[in-house]
Amino acid sequence: MAVSLGLEDVFIKYTGLTFIDGNAGVLRYRGYDINDLVQNTGFEEVCYLMTNGELPNSQQLAEFKKSVKEHYKLPDHVMELISDLPREADTLTMMETAFASLSSGDYQWNKENDRKQVPKILGENLGIISNIYRHKMGMGLQNPDPKYDYAEAFLRNCFGNADEKKISAMNAALVIYVDHEVPASTTAALVASSTLSDMYSCITAATAALKGPLHGGAAEAAYKQLLDIGNVDNVENWFKTNILDGKRRLMGFGHRVYRTYDPRMKIFKKLATTLEQTDEQKKLFEIAVKLEELGVKEFGGKGIYPNTDYYSGIVFNEIGFPIYMFTTLFGFSRVLGWLSHITEYVEEEERLIRPRAVYTGPDKRDFVKMQDRK
Ligand code: CMC
Repeated sequence: MAVSLGLEDVFIKYTGLTFIDGNAGVLRYRGYDINDLVQNTGFEEVCYLMTNGELPNSQQLAEFKKSVKEHYKLPDHVMELISDLPREADTLTMMETAFASLSSGDYQWNKENDRKQVPKILGENLGIISNIYRHKMGMGLQNPDPKYDYAEAFLRNCFGNADEKKISAMNAALVIYVDHEVPASTTAALVASSTLSDMYSCITAATAALKGPLHGGAAEAAYKQLLDIGNVDNVENWFKTNILDGKRRLMGFGHRVYRTYDPRMKIFKKLATTLEQTDEQKKLFEIAVKLEELGVKEFGGKGIYPNTDYYSGIVFNEIGFPIYMFTTLFGFSRVLGWLSHITEYVEEEERLIRPRAVYTGPDKRDFVKMQDRK
């Protein structure tokens, strides 16, 4: 019996959310091209679009923003929990813990009310991720200021200020990472939702799957590669020693669905040059461009091109975030995608996800008593 390792090319749901053409390098949310959405919308507009199926008019957007802002304030027990975690802890572990603690409330999946939970969870998400950063930096925890929209409130709660270029880059990053059909983390969320577990627990399951370097952790790994190379003159030598001769994977390259340039990567590459760069950031960007050239020359023929995580670390760092936040910033945005998929699944096609395994162990054996074992 054939097993599809990695569930490659297995379709697990119908979706009206996200369309990907992996050969043409196209990504659309609810029919709108990712480039149009990044250029013309803010994160909350995309949240509304994903949750309700249509772009909001100005009144709908204002009401949606208000309902998110009402939940910027985190329950006290979550604030205490974050501040009690060791500061050295991984930021995704902190995210998992914080979301798991929110599931301690009395909750039953309810198809009539599940979408109404979305603005609440998005508001709490902002409080959680910004306070994870504050805790890592040794600052006291504080709730985001509801005077500001999502991206700005986030940057202000992390850094105390935010300029227009950084707010716009943060908005773009949030929009870019919203959804990508059913990667490992979304699938983990769907498995949990298919048992009618609660929405917070689904996010916890998804966050655990996002953590690894083959999924969300790739931005961090890709950025560390650039630090390891250190200098643009060292790129060729590093590529030959580590990738070609060392048979290591080039991080930030390759994708299960794209066989060409990931459209999200092109947006991040451009964003990296629109933000102000320090000399160190300029140097890392130059290294990345040179490494991209070599990678595409070597692997392009096999359909392996740079993916979204190749330049995103550079952008996050230019906004002001250290490496340990990169994967969590991906998760910060993807919470919306997870919520969109689990509500769609439970409302429209709920069925317990319970695959099978092909048994390859020994045939029936006689039991061996302890004294007779070797
Ligand atoms: N560098 C070098 N070779 C690669 C790479 C890479 N980054 N990616 C795939 N290959 C090769 C691989 O060695 C294999 O070669 P061969 O057939 O000769 O053994 C072939 O391509 C197929 O690899 P695979 O692992 O079976 O393919 P996959 O569809 O499972 O790979 C992937 C998808 C993302 C796991 C893989 O491309 C990879 O490990 N990339 C590096 C990590 C990374 O950047 N991940 C971020 C993915 S995008 C963001 C997200 O969705 O989370």
